[in-house]
Amino acid sequence: MSSETATPLDDFLNQLESLAADAETAFNAAGDDEQLEQARVEFLGARQGRLKSVQKNMGKVAGEDKPAAGKKLNEVKNAIQAAFEQAQEKLAGAAAERVRDPQFDVSLPGAAPRIGRLHPITQTIEELKDIMGRLGFTPADGPEVEDPWHNFEALNIPEIHPARDPLDNFYLSVAGAQHDTAPDRLLRSQTSTVQIRVMENTQPPIRIISLGRVYRPDTADPTHYPMFHQMEGLLIDRDVSLADLKTVLRLFATNYLGESVPVRIRPSFFPFTEPSVEADYHWNGKWVEFGGAGMVDPNVLNSVGYDPEVWSGFAFGLGVERLCMIRHQITDIRDLFTNDVRFLRQF
Ligand code: PHE
Repeated sequence: MSSETATPLDDFLNQLESLAADAETAFNAAGDDEQLEQARVEFLGARQGRLKSVQKNMGKVAGEDKPAAGKKLNEVKNAIQAAFEQAQEKLAGAAAERVRDPQFDVSLPGAAPRIGRLHPITQTIEELKDIMGRLGFTPADGPEVEDPWHNFEALNIPEIHPARDPLDNFYLSVAGAQHDTAPDRLLRSQTSTVQIRVMENTQPPIRIISLGRVYRPDTADPTHYPMFHQMEGLLIDRDVSLADLKTVLRLFATNYLGESVPVRIRPSFFPFTEPSVEADYHWNGKWVEFGGAGMVDPNVLNSVGYDPEVWSGFAFGLGVERLCMIRHQITDIRDLFTNDVRFLRQF
């Protein structure tokens, strides 16, 4: 006779305990709603559920033990139900978390960032600097607000010269200036001003370009604008000839247009060059004018203190807009300054 033999009550209680533990493990292991539902049916299912089958064993428990067995049954039933609800909440919380912090879908097409671009004039300027740099010309700068000495006087344009007419220049009213004297500041009308500024401060030989804005009171139309850009070039050395000028212009045009282009020069006049020429290149079956040029006038060399017997040189001034427009088949200069992004995005 062994009094240690487990009673039916003990058996029943043990079954309930392990059922509760199994149920809790299964509920916690469920990774999604579907798995949790499967576990619920397995343990709490009204017909085939494991709780139901354990419950049937209550019949084996002796009559006087039934109250204790029933009490435990209720406790376990509630515990299993609570474990189920807890697992359910856990899954709902995880789902909400996923919505708030969605997994990065690497297969989605990327949202391309909007990248800005350089203005076509800026692009042209960079390219011109690059080409002329390879020919040995270094960029130089000068102010856009100039005095008459650098814009006219030193460039051999005396006070009585028609190029100084107030109708052809943007003179500025300067605070404190006398009304009866000529205005002493203007927006530069040409980048030739930088020739003077460089020569005043440097001894020859000189080989510079200057790219920047110039201003003239022109009415805007497809080929005119009151502000535009020029590329000035200046080379000063011993024994410089017109042939050197023509060579540089031809090398420049060939580099810029990407094919060998013939260049021609026609006689012209500028106060600061002698002789003066107009330069054209042959492009797409016709001659296209691309700027003024010439041999630096001895008067200009004198005005900056160079000896014209020792030093000679050439200068040229090209319109940047014109070069840009020809390259990109732009037909109206105003498009370059309206800054409509639909236009600018094409370059
Ligand atoms: N400054 C002249 C112009 O604006 C161009 C030029 C530059 C001509 C240098 C000769 C030499 O039209």
